[in-house]
Amino acid sequence: MDIVLATRNVKKAQELQRILGDTSFRILTLDSFPDCPEVIEDKDSFEGNALKKATTVAKHTGLVAIADDSGLEVDALDGRPGVISAYYAGMEASDAENIAKLLFELKGVPAEKRTARFVCCIAIAFPDGQKETFFGYVYGKIAEEPKGRSGFGYDPIFYPLGQEKTFAEMSADQKDSISHRKQALLKLKNYLRKYLNKQRDNT
Ligand code: IMP
Repeated sequence: MDIVLATRNVKKAQELQRILGDTSFRILTLDSFPDCPEVIEDKDSFEGNALKKATTVAKHTGLVAIADDSGLEVDALDGRPGVISAYYAGMEASDAENIAKLLFELKGVPAEKRTARFVCCIAIAFPDGQKETFFGYVYGKIAEEPKGRSGFGYDPIFYPLGQEKTFAEMSADQKDSISHRKQALLKLKNYLRKYLNKQRDNT
């Protein structure tokens, strides 16, 4: 059975492929569907955006589609930047500008109140309209200043709970092993395994 990953982000597609690699699905990307419409992520929740992307691609391709949406929620900022994490400091903002805005807003907030979490929602949509979502979280604290050069986004200012290193000071494998994306993906993988077994039992 074919599954389309509803992303043009090569790194994301590779990570999804790595984790789903040992299931018996053939993983395609949007590169195989250049006419697929671009989806505007305008929903006010991670789930809304992930579902919108997955259902649009399932409808267009007639195949099972998987999409994700993720971001950072900071408690002292009432959950911001949330769904606008990618462009918190403006539509064209760089990671460094988004980080600078967040740190400015947290100026003077003491360590114990700098709690935050990364959230990832993965949606799967079937051409017949059936759909499911899976969430992964990683809890931690926002640093006083950026540390480390790996990763992307808010990695240099995020200390996962119980760790002395920010995500950006960790190796990719170290981060992947505890990331919100990995946890959501493992739930998806479990769901796909059961789905496949059911299909087999029915044939
Ligand atoms: P999207 O899921 O590609 O829409 O990502 C939204 C934004 O959330 C990214 O551009 C980053 O700013 C932030 N984000 C999501 N996951 C991570 C992560 O693992 N590390 C750092 N930033 C992240």
